[in-house]
This record gives sequence, structure tokens and C-alpha cells, in this order.
Amino acid sequence: MIHCIPITEDLLDACAAIYVDTFNAEPWNDAWDVPSARRRLANILHAPGFFGLAILRDQHLCGAAFGEIEPWFQGSMFNLREMFVANDQRGTGLGSELLFHLEVELRALGVHTVHLFTSTGDLTERFYQRNGYRTETDMRMLIKTLS
Ligand SMILES: CC(C)(COP(=O)(O)OP(=O)(O)OC[C@H]1O[C@@H](n2cnc3c(N)ncnc32)[C@H](O)[C@@H]1OP(=O)(O)O)[C@@H](O)C(=O)NCCC(=O)NCCS
Repeated sequence: MIHCIPITEDLLDACAAIYVDTFNAEPWNDAWDVPSARRRLANILHAPGFFGLAILRDQHLCGAAFGEIEPWFQGSMFNLREMFVANDQRGTGLGSELLFHLEVELRALGVHTVHLFTSTGDLTERFYQRNGYRTETDMRMLIKTLS
């Protein structure tokens, strides 16, 4: 059985373990360890407006979505900061199910838009597009390394 539950502090260790496996793999190839992943997720969890859901299959945590609801000039928007499904569970519909439940709950909270950053031109962008998200061509993410 598949169901979603709100993310609380006690889920952080399990989320961090999945996060490490997920983002140290393709297409990201990051170099997280469990303490650094836990710090990042805890930081989002404790931010104002935090909202997040975890998805469980047969009581086993398989993925999560973390973000925050932010005031906008009309109502509020949701900044989807992190979303991940365990490597061995991908491609079985859990990500789409999680996104669906997240959107249902956000809509009920008065959120009218979800924003997110992801990598371009790979499976991840396509995952969001297949779930109704459009790539914003007028915007760019800019980065400056402060040395
Ligand atoms: C993106 C992600 C959350 C999707 O979850 P999921 O449970 O695999 O998604 P679903 O089973 O509902 O949908 C499968 C779709 O996602 C796509 N997908 C994206 N990344 C994938 C991956 N690494 N492995 C398998 N499928 C992936 C598949 O291509 C499939 O699309 P298709 O039907 O057109 O082939 C998950 O693959 C993941 O955690 N990826 C790595 C972390 C990540 O990129 N997170 C988003 C950062 S913004």
C-alpha cells in the first residue's frame, strides 16, 4: 500500500539516507554524506513556511518532497526545494504520486503556483513536464563563486 505523510523531525535520518544515495548518483553525482544531507534537510524543515510530504510503500519510506510556502503578490507560491525517490524504487510511479498529493494539499492551503529548479534536458526535466510543469524559457539561474 502507498500513502503520504507530513514530514516531521523524526523522518530526517531516513530522508537523509535516501537523499545521499539519490543525489550522489546520475545525473547529479554530488558528494553528500548523511550528516551533510541531514543538515540541509533540517535547514529546510526549520525554515518559515516549511511544507513537506514523505511517500511510503508498505510502511517503508521511499521518497520525499521538501519546500516552503512563500508569500507572493497574490496569495502564495510553493518553492519545491528537494524531491527524491530511492534509486531502487524509481520509475514505478512514486514520484508522480508524491507530486500529486503535494499539489492537492498545497491547493487546499491556498497555493497557486509551484516553482522549482532542476537540470535541463534529462529524465528529471521530463518527469516534471509529464506532471504538468512547463520549462520557463524567460528565466535563467545565475551563479557566482565567491573566492
Ligand atoms: C525525479 C524523481 C523524483 C522521479 O521519481 P520517480 O518515482 O522515478 O517518478 P515516476 O515513476 O513517477 O515517473 C517516472 C518518470 O520519471 C523519469 N525519471 C526521472 N529521473 C529518473 C531516474 N533517475 N530514474 C528513473 N526514472 C526517472 C522517468 O524517465 C519516467 O518518465 P517516462 O515515463 O517519461 O520515462 C526520481 O527519479 C529521483 O529521485 N531522481 C533523482 C533526484 C532528482 O533528480 N530529484 C529532482 C531534483 S529537482
